[in-house]
Amino acid sequence: MKAPVRVAVTGAAGQISYSLIFRIASGSMLGPDQPVILQLLEIPPAMNALQGVLMELKDCAFPLVAGVIPSDDPNVAFKDADFALLVGSRPRGPGMERSDLLKANGAIFTVQGKALSDHANPDCRVLVVGNPANTNALILLKSAPKLNPRHITSMTRLDHNRSMAQIADKVGCHSSDVEQVVVWGNHSSTQYPDISYATAAGKPVRTAVADDWYKNDFIPTVQKRGAAIIKARGASSAASAANAAVEHMRDWALGSKGQWVSMGVYSKGNPYGIDEDLMFSFPITCEHGEWQIVGGLDRDAFSMDMIKKTEQELQAEREAIADMFK
Ligand code: NAI
Repeated sequence: MKAPVRVAVTGAAGQISYSLIFRIASGSMLGPDQPVILQLLEIPPAMNALQGVLMELKDCAFPLVAGVIPSDDPNVAFKDADFALLVGSRPRGPGMERSDLLKANGAIFTVQGKALSDHANPDCRVLVVGNPANTNALILLKSAPKLNPRHITSMTRLDHNRSMAQIADKVGCHSSDVEQVVVWGNHSSTQYPDISYATAAGKPVRTAVADDWYKNDFIPTVQKRGAAIIKARGASSAASAANAAVEHMRDWALGSKGQWVSMGVYSKGNPYGIDEDLMFSFPITCEHGEWQIVGGLDRDAFSMDMIKKTEQELQAEREAIADMFK
């Protein structure tokens, strides 16, 4: 058995974590031979609820769990962390503007960025799930000078997986036979789920589906899937979000085996001319614990326009938090 690694999860008593922590503990994320020490962060009012989660975790008797450290102090929860999944964030309250939301979250992600920078393993790989995920990750990146900027990412894997599932339904294949989907940009309703290069069972998808379905059905369905789930379930997507977080980290750590995945990464040096100071979702492959952007993809006028819109939204979000870094 390998030596244990430390995995920090924030928002540990929340909905997503109720699925996520158990998946990590069972070995779905880092493999069946990798013990983990779980370092679980919550805010003081949720520490009681977290105790309940800890009791359930104990009752699973997972062989891979080598320790559990609950805390309401980021300096403790991030100590020596090898992986950090930042799920906890401030939800939008009544009457709250998007800029207020960005600022409220800025307060969380500056503190957590500093704590990670000061206390985590300097090689720590970070995934920001809590919304607005891309800009929260950008705030974190700017607050964590000792971390490698390439090791800070944000989650668009749920959007990627949703795209694969919609395509599979449409063309009549299994979702695992869908490849080369790309989600560009922000994890928001401006995201661009792009099927220009996608294949289903080896055949190009773009020519197999009508333009009208692609532009007027598929794209809005993926963009608004989160809202549709809230309407149906009365609560936001949690199990599928946890699954996406597990898959994001698994592929990053263990390799995507040549498959394209979508990840929000720091845009510096990107090959597509995107503003170089954003957390932006690109087509990615992962190998040996590092990610690479898939380069050289042609984009038609429609794609360029969609990508521009999501880039502009991220630039506006960055503008709203600019005061924090003066
Ligand atoms: P939730 O409200 O059930 O849980 C959030 C938890 O975070 C709460 O227990 C809260 O006490 C905790 N928390 C708040 N501030 C914290 C802090 N400073 N430190 C540590 N913990 C803190 O929410 P849920 O459903 O688990 O979702 C979490 C976040 O994930 C939300 O922002 C949601 O919008 C986002 N999300 C992102 C997705 C993506 O694809 N990127 C997909 C689905 C959800």
